[in-house]
Amino acid sequence: MLKKVLKWIGIILGGLIGLLVLAFIVLYFVGSSKANKTHDIPVETVSIPADAEAIQRGEHLATIYICTSCHTKNLGGELSFAVPGMLSIPTPNLTSGVGGIGSFYTDEDWVRAIRHGVGHDGRALFIMPSNVFHSLNDEDLGAVIAYIKSVPPLTTSCRKGGLSSWGG
Ligand code: HEC
Repeated sequence: MLKKVLKWIGIILGGLIGLLVLAFIVLYFVGSSKANKTHDIPVETVSIPADAEAIQRGEHLATIYICTSCHTKNLGGELSFAVPGMLSIPTPNLTSGVGGIGSFYTDEDWVRAIRHGVGHDGRALFIMPSNVFHSLNDEDLGAVIAYIKSVPPLTTSCRKGGLSSWGG
């Protein structure tokens, strides 16, 4: 009798584990195909000021909207989260230094990333809270971009954002 019960418990547990493994595999593939899906969205033109006053205002906004908390104070970025060998999520370098987003970003790219949450490679940004930044009006957004463009170029190894670095 006990043997039979144990056998059934074994079968049920085995089945559950099998289901979990299956669910994990499905979610993994759905997740990575979502992560790799590209979005082609039209972007409005936002004028980017160049005067010192606007840049200062942009610095203030970048501080209260905590861009500088995640992208670091000098906007050089950092490796914010990593599971060695599996997943790494760098917060990218926004400056125009080597490896920095700013070295190749167009004005349109800035608007697309900050306001619409779509990165330079057309993929959705995961950690970037663009849903919050969506409410910045053109003037404020322009000032933030003007500030980022004004910071000294830094060379860091935090090149790419997003989940493009699975496995690295
Ligand atoms: C909660 C942390 C966080 C905050 C706050 C944040 N960012 Fe980001 N940002 C990230 C991360 C992480 C990435 C990498 C892509 C991803 O996974 O979202 C990123 C990516 C970017 C990118 C690059 C997109 C690309 O093309 O790869 C830009 C530009 C950017 N952020 C600008 C900003 C600006 C401007 C602000 C403030 C208005 C800001 N970020 C606030 C975490 C943050």
